[in-house]
Amino acid sequence: MPADQEIAVVRTIEDLRASVRDWRSCRERVGLVPTMGALHEGHLTLVRRSLDLTSRTCVTLFVNPAQFGPNEDLAVYPRTEETDAAMLAAEGAHLLFAPSVEEMYPPDSVTRVHVPGISDPLEGAFRPDFFTGVATIVAKLLIQALPDVALFGEKDYQQLQVIKRMARDLDIPVEIEGVPTVREADGLALSSRNAYLTADERRAAPTLYRCLSTIAEKVSAGADPETEEKKAINELLDAGFSKVDYLTVRDAQSLEPWADRTRPGRVLAAAKLGRARLIDNVAVA
Ligand code: PAF
Repeated sequence: MPADQEIAVVRTIEDLRASVRDWRSCRERVGLVPTMGALHEGHLTLVRRSLDLTSRTCVTLFVNPAQFGPNEDLAVYPRTEETDAAMLAAEGAHLLFAPSVEEMYPPDSVTRVHVPGISDPLEGAFRPDFFTGVATIVAKLLIQALPDVALFGEKDYQQLQVIKRMARDLDIPVEIEGVPTVREADGLALSSRNAYLTADERRAAPTLYRCLSTIAEKVSAGADPETEEKKAINELLDAGFSKVDYLTVRDAQSLEPWADRTRPGRVLAAAKLGRARLIDNVAVA
């Protein structure tokens, strides 16, 4: 699609399936990029990767109520469909699926997908229904679109592990591709929720990435993870973060405490800065 054209938008599962069916009849390879909109360079990187890996890319835009807790930001979550659609058209994405809440969750829909174990620690301990909401909507999108590949950012590292496990356990024939986090020049991971930061908070925000990178470097050189975690938590509080929900070195696959140092580790954190709750993670090399 030429970069200056509009992107086709469908709002029903039936229309989504019809488009994918047409592509399949032409032997196209299909990529799916699930999003909640308010697109930024991080999302566009997923789209570009999908365009590299496949011949047709469908982006979904759905602010999924099931993954927001009662005191979270569902009502004020940024909704910018027109701008999002223009950005996707400029990238050359082929289809935008932007369904209503009623389309995705008819009033009599009761089935939910829960992925125990991997969903429980870290984000799961602070946002009890979050991963069930994510696993349910992603399972539905995968079954609706039946793509060859679906792409997710490593920024939401635990989410990526939950989705991989869910797709494997449900035998959904799709390749789940993780894409490295896109960062600002000062290291802050791109996120639609960075929009909540004031100018002062924005200046403090890259401390999170700096702390995670320092821990990753030190523990890979043999330092004690708990000592480094404590130092980093103090540094974040000194920088203006009001609360650190967790900051911890984990096994990169199971997200259990990193006991076996011959296995890949991952440093993960979530911390509150003003109205924003920032999450980030870094690989232990
Ligand atoms: O990462 C997100 O934006 C969402 O959790 C996802 C995967 C689109 C599901 O709503």
